[in-house]
Amino acid sequence: MRKPLVAGNWKMNMDQNDVNAFVSEILDKISANDVDVMIAPPALFAAGMQKSFGDKIRVGLQDISAHDSGAYTGEISAEMAASASIQYAIIGHSERRTYHSENDHLINTKIQSAIKHGLVPVYCCGEKLEERESGNHKEVVISQISEALQGFSEDQLKDLVVAYEPVWAIGTGKTATSDQAQEMHEAIRNCLSELFSQAFAEKTRILYGGSCKPSNASEIFSQPDVDGGLIGGASLKVDDFLAIVEAAK
Ligand code: 13P
Repeated sequence: MRKPLVAGNWKMNMDQNDVNAFVSEILDKISANDVDVMIAPPALFAAGMQKSFGDKIRVGLQDISAHDSGAYTGEISAEMAASASIQYAIIGHSERRTYHSENDHLINTKIQSAIKHGLVPVYCCGEKLEERESGNHKEVVISQISEALQGFSEDQLKDLVVAYEPVWAIGTGKTATSDQAQEMHEAIRNCLSELFSQAFAEKTRILYGGSCKPSNASEIFSQPDVDGGLIGGASLKVDDFLAIVEAAK
């Protein structure tokens, strides 16, 4: 069966003092459980946090470069992340698509880079409000996935995590209903089955993201095709984040 994953995406929040306080509080409060827990802080803090967490919590990056090294000012490669014991990379977040013009072709090369260096890609997809309102939401997401995962073998993607994040639900307080989430997660799993195989689709974790919080996490996570969450705002407070981890058990 699929082991749930609850991942925090801190985005551009928290300074060094906040990080120190968060790390010691969560290490105090987290209990061993059947849920994988990952946090993606601003890259500056990632290696230090992974050292402090040991095996208890995995640390990820919020983005990686499509390149291994060279004259790419400001970028961080999958190779560098792996050398600092980072195991996950969020790729294709809608904020990267919107503010940095990332498209599924570039995202495909970033996934290649993650795989080459042994990072677990957390591939983000999701429709905009107007796409949902016009009834095209499934087509949009299926086409994002088909392009982003084009050219890979099932074996290369064996650790892939897909995060469905409807853009209209991110940071808005407006969550998808559990039915809307389930409908899309099922469509994503069917798409993975068509692109690869049913066995692959059945073992791939699909997370929900978008205004997920302690009060709605249990209901969303109870859907059969929802395998955990990618949490923004509610991952910044230890108690809220751990309550969501609990809800995924
Ligand atoms: P919020 O949980 O703040 O809506 O953010 C979701 C998200 O974008 C996680 O990647």
